[in-house]
Amino acid sequence: MSDPKVIVALDFPSAMPALALAQRLSPELCRLKVGKELFTATGPSLLEQLMKSGFEIFLDLKFHDIPNTTAQACKAAAGLGVWMINVHALGGRRMLEAANEAVSSSACRPRLIAVTLLTSMDQSDLADLGIAQTPEAMVLRLAELAQDCGLDGVVCSALETERLREQCGQAFCLVTPGIRPVDASLDDQSRVMTPEAALRSGSSYLVIGRPITKAADPLQALLDIHEQIGGLA
Ligand code: C5P
Repeated sequence: MSDPKVIVALDFPSAMPALALAQRLSPELCRLKVGKELFTATGPSLLEQLMKSGFEIFLDLKFHDIPNTTAQACKAAAGLGVWMINVHALGGRRMLEAANEAVSSSACRPRLIAVTLLTSMDQSDLADLGIAQTPEAMVLRLAELAQDCGLDGVVCSALETERLREQCGQAFCLVTPGIRPVDASLDDQSRVMTPEAALRSGSSYLVIGRPITKAADPLQALLDIHEQIGGLA
């Protein structure tokens, strides 16, 4: 089985455009990310159809609840046969350990990663929550906690990967959105990196949405990204 580094974000409101886009891509070249909007609209049947076409799925539902509820949700997600799921590290140690235990006891363990701090949050958002630390310090701290609880990795900004790779070692999985190929539009992303720079700085997987999903020829856009990352993939 190949291990494509690109995860295409299927940010669509319904099954039809998501399936139409997937049909134009190849499971040899990418995995697919299904998030809250699409999953809420379509439910697990869409996942089944995508997996039947050979795609591995990152189910991006960012669970965050009391330990038992989160563990049961993770168990249910693992039962869908997806490749990767995630939870919020801010749920704390007991929630992270419960989530890890739940997926570890499932027949086919998905990779379990944590969201550290949402990249939309800055110092003033943390201050509002009564947290005096910087966002950077919080990211490192929450990644350390996730690793300590047995999780496989974290979602992070590509700008954080170098420091996280140093702290967490080579085996820890770093999944990075905010990727823009050379010459691509930034859309609403502000702090971006190219696919090549992100992999060089330590990313394990690149989450890329609109540069592929909005391209006139999505497969060609994906192939161009593969060309840019060449020997790093
Ligand atoms: O279209 P684009 O490449 O900007 O899509 C990026 C994807 O990664 C979207 O699904 C977005 O919700 C997700 N994401 C992000 N930044 C984060 C976490 C997730 O852009 N910090």
